[in-house]
Amino acid sequence: MKILVTGGCGFIGSHTVVELLNQNFEVVIVDNFYNSQKDVVDKIKEITKKDFKFYEDDCCDEAAMRKIFSENKIDAVIHFAGYKAVGESVAKPLMYYQNNLDSTLILAKVMKEFGCHKIVFSSSATVYGDPASLPIKEDFPLSTTNPYGTTKLFIERILKDLAYADKDLGVVLLRYFNPIGAHESGLIGENPNDIPNNLMPYIMKVAIKELPQVNVFGNDYDTKDGTGVRDYIHVVDLALGHIKAIEKIKDETGVLVYNLGTGKGTSVLELIETFAEVNHVDVPYQITERRPGDIAACYADATKAKEELGWEATKNLEDMCKDAYHFVKRVKNL
Ligand code: UFG
Repeated sequence: MKILVTGGCGFIGSHTVVELLNQNFEVVIVDNFYNSQKDVVDKIKEITKKDFKFYEDDCCDEAAMRKIFSENKIDAVIHFAGYKAVGESVAKPLMYYQNNLDSTLILAKVMKEFGCHKIVFSSSATVYGDPASLPIKEDFPLSTTNPYGTTKLFIERILKDLAYADKDLGVVLLRYFNPIGAHESGLIGENPNDIPNNLMPYIMKVAIKELPQVNVFGNDYDTKDGTGVRDYIHVVDLALGHIKAIEKIKDETGVLVYNLGTGKGTSVLELIETFAEVNHVDVPYQITERRPGDIAACYADATKAKEELGWEATKNLEDMCKDAYHFVKRVKNL
């Protein structure tokens, strides 16, 4: 099977490409390097010892997308490409709506034109908003609190409408919880250039002394230790979930929705402590104000993915912390 991976050089995309190649899928990547590094292409080849086609193009460029589909007989698409920073989306909503929606609409149009009927979409637990209860199941009500999240929700809706109209179409919506960690080789991982917004990349920068301390956004939430609780999932487990989704949708049509999480909630302080302990590093922190828009707790009920896809997360928090640190040390030559 030949899979087009949009955003295939990004954090989750690159790990998914590695697992696809390991399982002998043919892969075509399209990425514009807006938020990824060019050397990822070679790193993926180094890890897998396999080759694949690569296009440096923007998914909003309809002619470029048409060229990719005309040069390759694509059986299915995994669609990661999109802007993903929550804070930036609040400041630049037009940019987010335009890019994330246009790219998906163009992709869907070109897929139809070339008879490609299978798509796995990279959605997010952010579509559950502030859940009324925990753990979160796939049939919980949907709402969002920022434009980034709204693009995910809109795209889910668009794909549902397309599948309703086109009975040949098969769609899997994967709602990720909080992906962290890195490939065990240390060759690919998450490496933001600027000051990170997310907790794990921030902890990594503090551990290598590029930043002085982690700011813990509030310790007065109604959680086990007062700090925010999330469902951190190893990016390789998440990548493997995409393979299961492709295998599932291969012979099916309609829309399937799955949470990809571990089902375990971890607090900010627990993550910091685990990281420091398993890597034998200092991770100083201070308690600061709550971050606007944050919710107290968010973790998955992942039983649907287990029952229907035969997928479940196998790596624990220690693995996530070790692999993340291994990656950052390699990048920084430490
Ligand atoms: N946090 C800190 N200090 C930091 C960064 C984060 O204390 O410097 C806390 C947050 O308050 C939260 C937890 O760490 O309690 C996790 O925050 P992240 O920013 O790492 O992750 P979020 O859960 O806020 O958001 C992530 C992704 C979104 C996605 C969402 C899905 O960034 O893209 O999960 O639930 F939509």
